[in-house]
Amino acid sequence: MPPIVRSSRPLALVGAAVAAAVLAAPALAGNGGFAPVPPESPNAQGIHQSYVFISIFCFAIFLLVEGLLIAFIIRYRRRNRPRNADGAQIHGASRLELAWTGGPVLILFVIAAFVFAKLPGIQDVPSASAGNQNLVVDVIGTQFTWQFRYPNGVVAFDTMRAPEGRTVELHVTSPDWDVIHSWWIPALAGKIDAIPGRVNKTWFRAQRTGVFQGQCAELCGLFHAKMLASVEVMAPDEFDSWLAQQQQEQSAGTGPLGAEMWTATCAKCHGPSGEGDYGPKIAGTALVSDPQAVEQVIRNGFGAMPPVGRDWTDDEMTAITTYLKENLGG
Ligand code: CUA
Repeated sequence: MPPIVRSSRPLALVGAAVAAAVLAAPALAGNGGFAPVPPESPNAQGIHQSYVFISIFCFAIFLLVEGLLIAFIIRYRRRNRPRNADGAQIHGASRLELAWTGGPVLILFVIAAFVFAKLPGIQDVPSASAGNQNLVVDVIGTQFTWQFRYPNGVVAFDTMRAPEGRTVELHVTSPDWDVIHSWWIPALAGKIDAIPGRVNKTWFRAQRTGVFQGQCAELCGLFHAKMLASVEVMAPDEFDSWLAQQQQEQSAGTGPLGAEMWTATCAKCHGPSGEGDYGPKIAGTALVSDPQAVEQVIRNGFGAMPPVGRDWTDDEMTAITTYLKENLGG
């Protein structure tokens, strides 16, 4: 046997580095973007708990494997042995082999059991109870905009408003002339695909007011990265009056809907002032002053432009054509 060196300094160094990383992790959450955002809905909480539970095993296995690797490198390094010296010949170690087979099986079983126990709370939309109706919002992904349709006919683009403490049931889809997108607000639950012609259901119940950011999570074309979404959670009575006011303004054509549609739908390609970006310059053109011509383009698409407004209502069409004429007309 070669002499064994029992220096523990390298191991101590590794231990110190790991400890420092563990202590630094919470500090990085929120600003480094490495750690998940804090969950703000019961189903997001379930996802977060699963994440932490699985991470504990991953971290323990990482420490075990890397620790053994380093220990073996130090303890069994060559030193002065000749290059061609054989090591001890070993055959079979039943207990060790059983342990490294049984251990991982057990770990996978425990992880699967935990996740299956959490799954209903993450996935199933809570059923409405007396006095606590779910608010159902249709979430429609199109290239490259999120549309939110409320039960009273109100529509919103890219920013969803929602009441605090109430179950919001999301019916997520995409028109059959569009492509697959994925709805994801990390603080308010997991991803769900917006698939043309199919409705996928998810939900959240926000535990506090605030604005929660998200992003389309399925590569859907050139401006996938601009397909951001946010949910603004308001106090319930504030939300109710917002919704009622929107309904009144949108049917009267007096609200900011046109501006909202411009920013969410047109400006991403044509530039914030219509000065041209990937899409051509449209500010000051004869087209934007002609509501009927604009409607034609929006409903049917033109060249590389998708038919973004094929399913928009007449009120919505009026809102955007009026906005274009008044703000970008020649
Ligand atoms: Cu829509 Cu990516």
